[in-house]
Amino acid sequence: MDPGHVVEVEDARLLKTFQRFGVIVDRAEGAYLWDMSGRRYLDFMAGYGVAILGHGRREVADAIVDQLRRNAICHGSLYSPARAEFLEELFDVLPGNMSAAYMANSGAEAVEAAIKVAVKATGRSLFIAAKGSYHGKTLGALSLTWGEKYRKPFMQLLPKVHFVGYGDAKALDDAPFEEAAAIFLEPVQGEGGVNLPSAEFMVEAERRCRSSGCVLVMDEIQAGLGRTGRMWAHEHWGVKPDIITIGKGIGGGIPMGVAAMSSELSGAMKLGEQTSTFGGNPLASAAGAAVLRVLREGRLWENAERMGSRFLRGLDGIAAGRRLAESSRGLGLMDALDLRISVSEALPALIGNGMISTYSGLRTLRFLPPLIIGEDEVDSALSIIDGTLMEIEQTKRSNMGERD
Ligand SMILES: Cc1ncc(COP(=O)(O)O)c(C=O)c1O
Repeated sequence: MDPGHVVEVEDARLLKTFQRFGVIVDRAEGAYLWDMSGRRYLDFMAGYGVAILGHGRREVADAIVDQLRRNAICHGSLYSPARAEFLEELFDVLPGNMSAAYMANSGAEAVEAAIKVAVKATGRSLFIAAKGSYHGKTLGALSLTWGEKYRKPFMQLLPKVHFVGYGDAKALDDAPFEEAAAIFLEPVQGEGGVNLPSAEFMVEAERRCRSSGCVLVMDEIQAGLGRTGRMWAHEHWGVKPDIITIGKGIGGGIPMGVAAMSSELSGAMKLGEQTSTFGGNPLASAAGAAVLRVLREGRLWENAERMGSRFLRGLDGIAAGRRLAESSRGLGLMDALDLRISVSEALPALIGNGMISTYSGLRTLRFLPPLIIGEDEVDSALSIIDGTLMEIEQTKRSNMGERD
């Protein structure tokens, strides 16, 4: 298809719910994408954190093709070896208190399942979530998402949600744990700006859950699966969740979400109360099992930690040296750079210089690269970011000079 026609059809026929950046992706491999003109981009967006093993990972592609040839769909009322294999791989890497899982088709759906399990298990309907949170855009998950721009047009969603300040243990004082079915927390906030909580906040949230019967849900959809330098990001804070929601990279590019839960909760849902036609399908299961095998065998969280430290050191240097950059933060390969200019100015310039990334809010660049990147990719990313900010700075200076 002609590139102009691709844009024409999508612009005419898709709801306009995504911010678009004009790159028409033709193919992808490792940490790189190519557009239809053959131009290469370093991909630090990775499908919003999905391509944890890089694009086109052979083991995952082979597992998908093999399974597709064998059997692509097997309803949850029948048994599937692919599903059983995935579950074995998953429970090998989950914390020991996790006992059963609901298999869904997206992150938001995993969150929906977690909401329903918490309601059923506690008989309560109030929820606690954090300011700055993001849990997805289906109606239940959206109720727990902080951004007013996402929530407000759809009020009333879940009627009783109490938002607490993220990361601040004191903010938990006013939270109604005794009445709450669950508290939903990201172990590191993504959409909210790559915010790291204090360990004290997480430990205190857990303590209050234990004394009140409120369910502790860790939303690991973005931060989990090795991204932050641990298999699960909540390991950094030393807490033990009752439910873990997983998504993004788990399906190796095939849509998939999972809500894993402890044995205390796994009996809460009764027959028929939570099902989905595609949930636990063999194709996603085969892909998921391959992802987990590669992740575990390669101990990719260790690479994420090493490359993340190198990348963060570089971002710190950019923040210290470039007038248009303000500060940086992150954990492993979940990182951010705050700017003094809008991301709507910085991102297209970055893309123009051959690097794709994403953003949180108006002035924060967010980086979610594949976990397989090496020093060369880290250094090229830093050099593109630095060079791009330098160019914007020079253009601004020369525009001011022209005006003077
Ligand atoms: C922490 C978190 N929870 C939930 C979601 C929703 O996942 P999905 O977009 O697959 O529905 C996301 C997506 O970005 C996320 O980052």
